Amino acid sequence: MKERLDKFIASQTALSRRDAGKAIRDKRVTVNEIVCRAVDTKVDPENDLVALDGQALTYRRHVYYMLNKPAGVVSATEDSREKTVLDLLPPQYRRSGIFPAGRLDKDTTGLLILTDDGDYAHRMLSPKKHVDKTYIATLDREPDVDIAEAFAKGITLADGTVCQQGQAVCLGNHRAEVTIREGKYHQVKRMFAALGYKVVALERIRIGALSLDKMLKKGELRPLTEAETPLVFDRYVKKS
Ligand code: URA
Repeated sequence: MKERLDKFIASQTALSRRDAGKAIRDKRVTVNEIVCRAVDTKVDPENDLVALDGQALTYRRHVYYMLNKPAGVVSATEDSREKTVLDLLPPQYRRSGIFPAGRLDKDTTGLLILTDDGDYAHRMLSPKKHVDKTYIATLDREPDVDIAEAFAKGITLADGTVCQQGQAVCLGNHRAEVTIREGKYHQVKRMFAALGYKVVALERIRIGALSLDKMLKKGELRPLTEAETPLVFDRYVKKS
């Protein structure tokens, strides 16, 4: 489907629509290697070669990034006081419409997906889709082995909320690996609180089949690979 040139550039770069229009009028944009000065030129994103300042724009309908979230940033698109996960995006990865797919608490670290694909986020997050999320919780004391049974049965939170069944495995050094399917507010912390433990650190290491890349330092992110987003790529990428 054809799109207006200024809109297309704004969707593929960090430029606003207005700045994209200015870049076009300033002769910084070529379409199929010819300078194009009309902002309302129609381009075919799949077939036309659009370049800004001599750099070809690789057309991506959507973007998917894996972030190793550090502590101290909030899982939001904007916040008047706090640094957000979007502030961690390097300039080359910025474009409009990116949001965190799900939330981690400000002090929780680890795997968070940033995307501009609402369908993908919904499929990953909806409790009906049964996507497991795995965390390493560091507790204020060594957990008893019977936490495994408590998680397997389903824990009732202090306010009476009954959680779905989950899994917990003791790892030593005050740590436990827990897997849950829901994403209630502060859920892991509240589940452990119901068992008499305080979570002193929490890291998400897996969502479904997607594991946190151990090479990513805290605060770093990278695009998901094709292997990491099979459903998405089946849907969106043209097979040659
Ligand atoms: N459970 C929590 O308590 N906090 C998180 O950030 C994620 C899951």
